[in-house]
Amino acid sequence: MPVDDHVAENRRYWNARAGDWVAAGERAWAGEPRWGQWGLAESELGLLGADYDGVRGVELGCGTGYVSGWLAARGAAMIGVDVSETQLATARRLAAEHGVAVDFVQADAERVCLRDGCADLVISEYGAALWCSPRRWLAEAHRLLRPGGEVLWLTSHPLVAVCSPLDGSIPVTEHLERPWFGLDRLDWTDAVDEPGGVEFNAGLGDWFALCHEIGFEVLDFRELRPPAGVADPDARPFAVTYGWARRFPSEMVWHCRRR
Ligand SMILES: C[S@@+](CC[C@H](N)C(=O)[O-])C[C@H]1O[C@@H](n2cnc3c(N)ncnc32)[C@H](O)[C@@H]1O
Repeated sequence: MPVDDHVAENRRYWNARAGDWVAAGERAWAGEPRWGQWGLAESELGLLGADYDGVRGVELGCGTGYVSGWLAARGAAMIGVDVSETQLATARRLAAEHGVAVDFVQADAERVCLRDGCADLVISEYGAALWCSPRRWLAEAHRLLRPGGEVLWLTSHPLVAVCSPLDGSIPVTEHLERPWFGLDRLDWTDAVDEPGGVEFNAGLGDWFALCHEIGFEVLDFRELRPPAGVADPDARPFAVTYGWARRFPSEMVWHCRRR
């Protein structure tokens, strides 16, 4: 189990926070697929295919497991990987309640106990994509994928990190609070608001360079925006207000193929 300090901290943090995510997990398992903090409808984004029969998928940092559930319900043989045993307990319960077969495995997404080339698809929605070192988890996704296999991830946009005050206060501001270059580790353990956890991000050029270096061809890159029509621009599900996210990209989606 984990040895790196950020992995140990994130395991502790997610075990402690898991209870707060049960209701959201239950909604996500029960409803049509919706992505990210703004709940963008799959029918609008079109990130998933219709048929995953015969596809072997691995979700890295699966949390309550609903993304694995969506894919398994479309025919994929899914393995959900998470470092938090408490999150996995919720995921296992919800999969059983929905009659969906997913294998859940407790492991660090930066070094997964699965064999080389075992997956056709690796996916992460705010899992490893946010809470693991990009260099390490993307290399691990590359190792798990067969040649030609694909990785899809959705996570926070680096502009959110750049506009996050150094003392960890929220919401994010409209100022450049920290450098774009060399972002990497974002340690929230001493944050003045909602302390705990270590996230990771990188400037967009660094993400592209990393994909190329590790051996991925970038098929698609998108910057996401919530729809118009929410009355209160100061409303926020997490650290980013709706008004901010209408003006600047708060989330991004990457889709790559293993060379
Ligand atoms: C935002 S949640 C998961 C997202 C999922 N879509 C959901 O909302 O349930 C982030 C998850 O990443 C997991 N995680 C953090 N670090 C990890 C690591 N090194 N390996 C595997 N999972 C990790 C946490 O335990 C947590 O369940």
